[in-house]
Amino acid sequence: MSAKMTYPIPATLIPGDGIGPEITDAVRLVLAAMGSPFEWDEHQGGLGAIEAGGDPLPPATLDSIRRSKLALKGPLTTPVGGGFRSVNVRLREEFGLYANVRPVRTVIPGQRYGNIDIVLIRENIEGLYVAFEHYIPVGDDPHAVAISSGVNTKAGSRRIMEFAFDYALKNGRKKVTVVHKANVLKALTGIFLNAGQEVAKSYAGRVQMDDRIIDACAMQLVLNPWQFDVIVTTNLFGDILSDEMAGLVGGLGFAPGANIGHSAAIFEAVHGSAPDIAGKGVANPVALLLAAGLMLEHVGRGDLAQLLRAAINSTINQDNVRTRDMGGTASTQEFTKAIIRRLPSA
Ligand code: NAI
Repeated sequence: MSAKMTYPIPATLIPGDGIGPEITDAVRLVLAAMGSPFEWDEHQGGLGAIEAGGDPLPPATLDSIRRSKLALKGPLTTPVGGGFRSVNVRLREEFGLYANVRPVRTVIPGQRYGNIDIVLIRENIEGLYVAFEHYIPVGDDPHAVAISSGVNTKAGSRRIMEFAFDYALKNGRKKVTVVHKANVLKALTGIFLNAGQEVAKSYAGRVQMDDRIIDACAMQLVLNPWQFDVIVTTNLFGDILSDEMAGLVGGLGFAPGANIGHSAAIFEAVHGSAPDIAGKGVANPVALLLAAGLMLEHVGRGDLAQLLRAAINSTINQDNVRTRDMGGTASTQEFTKAIIRRLPSA
């Protein structure tokens, strides 16, 4: 079944921090077993890169992504408060990765919510998340007032709307819901909603458009998630909603993400480096495996992505091999071997 064709240049692989090396090993093994088109050019990023050379995003890593235009990235630890700036945010800016695609699909049936199939598209480089922040001193307190500015542009809003509607059309989706807070943040998120209304006109009759205010959307996702198909929203709202949506399908262990731009695409799990379980061999590699599935789709190998998803489903639901977070006892390695057994032989 394997593709004998390889991707023309080795894809960049950043194992990352915490559980990153354990789950990227799992993905490498599974992809190799299914004859995927990727060869890997491994580079460091995050805390590991600081320890090795003092820079959380070394030039060699950036050069590799510039060459390959394609990367799979393990989670990277970002210090809270002080410390270095998020490497994830820097990567998005450096490569203009303006669209963050986060599909959530039910993997384990029979949970609180069944048959979930929603795609969240998050604007990835604008909004409040750009973190243009400063303090204003008052008296002898240098941090008396904290200010953060959000930036949304007409061009950036239009670009993400076009991406979302185009994605819906190409993937057989019927509806795009624009999520905003234009009743209060009238400028910042009004510009975003307006772009959605404009772009929707050229998709009339092919893709429907509606809109929700972020707080109502958060509630409706819990009450009746089946009403949503594709959601497009601003950077910070997307950050929050995507974790909520991961909760609908059993948690962060099942949520992959793709960061797409004109000059590169970087694939990752939505979850972080899970320092509490790092090195214990118990991490669930499914989210990063599903991210590798999105990467296969990105290079036109949706056939392999489907085989990969089928093997994950059979391992969990028929063989009942599960990691601890899924209520099982399998180690990362045992789970990985079980998935490989479920792949059609290469
Ligand atoms: P986290 O997602 O790393 O962990 C939250 C909880 O989920 C923990 O109890 C963890 O054990 C569990 N968990 C996460 N992934 C799991 C997996 N694959 N298998 C089993 N259990 C899993 O979030 P947290 O603790 O807030 O962040 C830790 C670090 O990760 C921080 O430095 C944060 O900045 C960074 N982070 C990085 C991201 C990225 O690189 N894309 C995304 C989110 C957080």
